[in-house]
Amino acid sequence: MQSNQKKLAVFVSGTGTLLESFLNEGLNVDIVLADRPCRGIDIAKERNVPIELVLRTDFSKNFDRAAYTELVLKTLQSHEISVVAMAGFNTVLGPSIFETYGGRILNTHPALLPSFKGHYAVRDALAYGVKVTGCTVHIATPEIDVGEILAQQAVPVLSGDTEESLHERIKKVERTLYLETIRSFMATV
Ligand code: GRF
Repeated sequence: MQSNQKKLAVFVSGTGTLLESFLNEGLNVDIVLADRPCRGIDIAKERNVPIELVLRTDFSKNFDRAAYTELVLKTLQSHEISVVAMAGFNTVLGPSIFETYGGRILNTHPALLPSFKGHYAVRDALAYGVKVTGCTVHIATPEIDVGEILAQQAVPVLSGDTEESLHERIKKVERTLYLETIRSFMATV
Protein backbone atom coordinates (compact mmCIF):
# COMPACT_ATOMS: atom_id res chain seq x y z
CA MET A 1 0.00 0.00 0.00
CA GLN A 2 1.30 3.45 -0.84
CA SER A 3 1.90 5.57 2.25
CA ASN A 4 -0.27 8.41 0.93
CA GLN A 5 -3.22 6.12 0.30
CA LYS A 6 -6.27 7.16 2.28
CA LYS A 7 -7.70 4.60 4.66
CA LEU A 8 -11.17 3.15 4.28
CA ALA A 9 -13.51 1.75 6.94
CA VAL A 10 -16.54 -0.34 6.00
CA PHE A 11 -19.42 -0.34 8.51
CA VAL A 12 -21.64 -3.43 8.78
CA SER A 13 -24.44 -4.80 10.92
CA GLY A 14 -25.79 -7.70 8.92
CA THR A 15 -25.01 -10.32 6.33
CA GLY A 16 -22.15 -8.31 4.86
CA THR A 17 -22.57 -9.45 1.27
CA LEU A 18 -21.54 -6.01 0.02
CA LEU A 19 -18.38 -6.17 2.11
CA GLU A 20 -17.76 -9.69 0.86
CA SER A 21 -17.97 -8.66 -2.77
CA PHE A 22 -15.73 -5.61 -2.15
CA LEU A 23 -13.07 -7.92 -0.69
CA ASN A 24 -13.54 -10.44 -3.49
CA GLU A 25 -12.93 -7.66 -5.98
CA GLY A 26 -9.75 -6.60 -4.21
CA LEU A 27 -10.90 -3.36 -2.60
CA ASN A 28 -8.45 -2.26 0.08
CA VAL A 29 -10.49 -2.18 3.31
CA ASP A 30 -8.47 -0.99 6.31
CA ILE A 31 -11.00 -1.80 9.03
CA VAL A 32 -14.45 -3.30 9.30
CA LEU A 33 -16.50 -1.68 12.03
CA ALA A 34 -19.65 -3.41 13.32
CA ASP A 35 -22.22 -2.38 15.90
CA ARG A 36 -23.22 -5.95 16.72
CA PRO A 37 -22.03 -9.51 16.19
CA CYS A 38 -22.90 -10.33 12.57
CA ARG A 39 -21.79 -12.27 9.52
CA GLY A 40 -19.93 -9.17 8.30
CA ILE A 41 -17.46 -9.72 11.16
CA ASP A 42 -16.94 -13.34 10.14
CA ILE A 43 -16.18 -12.23 6.59
CA ALA A 44 -13.62 -9.72 7.84
CA LYS A 45 -12.06 -12.37 10.10
CA GLU A 46 -11.74 -14.83 7.21
CA ARG A 47 -9.97 -12.18 5.13
CA ASN A 48 -7.75 -10.90 7.96
CA VAL A 49 -9.23 -7.42 7.85
CA PRO A 50 -8.92 -5.69 11.24
CA ILE A 51 -12.27 -5.63 13.04
CA GLU A 52 -13.63 -3.08 15.46
CA LEU A 53 -16.80 -4.16 17.24
CA VAL A 54 -18.24 -1.01 18.78
CA LEU A 55 -20.96 -2.93 20.53
CA ARG A 56 -24.35 -1.30 20.78
CA THR A 57 -26.10 -2.74 23.77
CA ASP A 58 -29.10 -0.45 23.97
CA PHE A 59 -31.79 -0.57 21.27
CA SER A 60 -34.34 1.29 23.38
CA LYS A 61 -35.50 4.87 22.98
CA ASN A 62 -33.04 5.82 25.73
CA PHE A 63 -30.09 4.86 23.53
CA ASP A 64 -27.28 7.36 24.09
CA ARG A 65 -26.60 8.06 20.43
CA ALA A 66 -24.15 10.87 21.11
CA ALA A 67 -21.97 8.73 23.39
CA TYR A 68 -22.08 5.81 20.97
CA THR A 69 -21.15 8.10 18.08
CA GLU A 70 -18.16 9.39 20.08
CA LEU A 71 -16.91 5.83 20.51
CA VAL A 72 -17.21 5.22 16.77
CA LEU A 73 -15.42 8.49 16.04
CA LYS A 74 -12.56 7.69 18.41
CA THR A 75 -12.19 4.26 16.84
CA LEU A 76 -11.97 5.76 13.34
CA GLN A 77 -9.44 8.31 14.48
CA SER A 78 -7.30 5.68 16.21
CA HIS A 79 -6.97 3.95 12.81
CA GLU A 80 -6.46 7.24 10.93
CA ILE A 81 -9.44 6.46 8.72
CA SER A 82 -10.25 9.00 6.00
CA VAL A 83 -13.35 7.55 4.35
CA VAL A 84 -16.27 5.50 5.66
CA ALA A 85 -18.48 3.27 3.52
CA MET A 86 -21.67 2.20 5.26
CA ALA A 87 -22.65 -1.21 3.96
CA GLY A 88 -25.80 -2.24 5.76
CA PHE A 89 -24.97 -0.46 9.03
CA ASN A 90 -28.10 -0.25 11.13
CA THR A 91 -27.31 2.38 13.74
CA VAL A 92 -28.07 5.99 12.89
CA LEU A 93 -25.06 8.02 14.07
CA GLY A 94 -25.25 11.38 15.76
CA PRO A 95 -24.18 14.73 14.29
CA SER A 96 -20.65 14.72 15.77
CA ILE A 97 -19.38 12.20 13.23
CA PHE A 98 -20.44 14.48 10.39
CA GLU A 99 -18.55 17.40 11.93
CA THR A 100 -15.34 15.42 11.57
CA TYR A 101 -16.05 13.17 8.57
CA GLY A 102 -18.59 15.33 6.73
CA GLY A 103 -18.58 14.62 3.00
CA ARG A 104 -16.47 11.49 3.52
CA ILE A 105 -19.14 9.04 4.68
CA LEU A 106 -20.76 7.10 1.86
CA ASN A 107 -23.92 5.06 1.98
CA THR A 108 -25.90 2.87 -0.35
CA HIS A 109 -29.65 2.85 -0.16
CA PRO A 110 -31.79 0.13 -1.76
CA ALA A 111 -34.18 2.48 -3.61
CA LEU A 112 -34.03 5.38 -6.05
CA LEU A 113 -33.80 8.35 -3.69
CA PRO A 114 -35.59 10.61 -2.99
CA SER A 115 -38.24 7.88 -3.19
CA PHE A 116 -38.58 5.36 -0.40
CA LYS A 117 -36.26 6.74 2.25
CA GLY A 118 -35.80 4.86 5.48
CA HIS A 119 -35.22 1.40 6.75
CA TYR A 120 -37.97 -0.36 4.79
CA ALA A 121 -37.16 0.96 1.34
CA VAL A 122 -37.55 -2.36 -0.48
CA ARG A 123 -40.77 -3.29 1.32
CA ASP A 124 -42.21 0.20 0.77
CA ALA A 125 -41.40 0.23 -2.96
CA LEU A 126 -43.02 -3.18 -3.37
CA ALA A 127 -46.09 -2.14 -1.40
CA TYR A 128 -46.46 1.05 -3.45
CA GLY A 129 -46.48 -1.01 -6.63
CA VAL A 130 -43.67 0.72 -8.51
CA LYS A 131 -42.43 -1.14 -11.57
CA VAL A 132 -38.91 0.19 -11.29
CA THR A 133 -36.84 0.77 -8.18
CA GLY A 134 -33.09 0.56 -7.72
CA CYS A 135 -30.22 1.74 -5.59
CA THR A 136 -28.60 5.04 -4.74
CA VAL A 137 -25.05 5.65 -3.58
CA HIS A 138 -24.86 8.95 -1.77
CA ILE A 139 -22.98 11.04 0.74
CA ALA A 140 -24.38 10.42 4.21
CA THR A 141 -25.46 13.46 6.24
CA PRO A 142 -27.03 13.89 9.69
CA GLU A 143 -30.41 13.76 7.99
CA ILE A 144 -31.08 10.26 6.73
CA ASP A 145 -31.08 9.46 2.99
CA VAL A 146 -30.83 13.03 1.73
CA GLY A 147 -27.13 13.60 0.98
CA GLU A 148 -25.65 14.33 -2.43
CA ILE A 149 -26.30 11.51 -4.88
CA LEU A 150 -23.15 10.02 -6.40
CA ALA A 151 -24.64 7.18 -8.44
CA GLN A 152 -27.96 5.50 -9.13
CA GLN A 153 -29.09 2.47 -11.04
CA ALA A 154 -32.56 1.24 -11.81
CA VAL A 155 -33.74 -2.30 -11.06
CA PRO A 156 -37.06 -3.72 -12.36
CA VAL A 157 -39.70 -5.02 -10.01
CA LEU A 158 -40.94 -8.35 -11.40
CA SER A 159 -44.34 -9.88 -10.90
CA GLY A 160 -44.28 -12.29 -7.98
CA ASP A 161 -41.38 -10.47 -6.33
CA THR A 162 -41.10 -10.76 -2.57
CA GLU A 163 -39.17 -8.28 -0.44
CA GLU A 164 -36.33 -10.82 -0.37
CA SER A 165 -36.20 -11.51 -4.11
CA LEU A 166 -36.37 -7.81 -4.96
CA HIS A 167 -33.74 -6.89 -2.38
CA GLU A 168 -31.42 -9.57 -3.72
CA ARG A 169 -31.83 -8.19 -7.28
CA ILE A 170 -31.02 -4.71 -5.97
CA LYS A 171 -28.02 -5.95 -4.00
CA LYS A 172 -26.57 -7.55 -7.15
CA VAL A 173 -26.51 -4.08 -8.69
CA GLU A 174 -25.26 -2.40 -5.50
CA ARG A 175 -22.29 -4.76 -5.32
CA THR A 176 -20.92 -3.30 -8.53
CA LEU A 177 -22.23 0.25 -8.42
CA TYR A 178 -21.15 0.90 -4.83
CA LEU A 179 -17.72 -0.65 -5.38
CA GLU A 180 -17.10 1.48 -8.48
CA THR A 181 -18.30 4.59 -6.67
CA ILE A 182 -16.09 3.95 -3.62
CA ARG A 183 -13.09 3.41 -5.91
CA SER A 184 -13.65 6.67 -7.77
CA PHE A 185 -14.32 8.52 -4.51
CA MET A 186 -11.11 7.21 -2.89
CA ALA A 187 -9.19 8.53 -5.86
CA THR A 188 -10.46 12.05 -5.15
CA VAL A 189 -9.77 12.36 -1.39
C1 GRF B 1 -27.92 -3.15 1.15
O1 GRF B 1 -29.05 -3.39 0.35
C2 GRF B 1 -27.84 -1.69 1.52
O2 GRF B 1 -28.38 -0.83 0.57
C3 GRF B 1 -28.68 -1.62 2.76
O3 GRF B 1 -28.34 -2.80 3.45
C4 GRF B 1 -28.02 -3.82 2.50
C5 GRF B 1 -26.73 -4.45 2.96
O4 GRF B 1 -26.65 -5.79 2.56
N1 GRF B 1 -28.43 -0.41 3.48
P1 GRF B 1 -25.52 -6.78 3.10
O5 GRF B 1 -25.61 -6.79 4.61
O6 GRF B 1 -24.21 -6.27 2.62
O7 GRF B 1 -25.87 -8.10 2.49
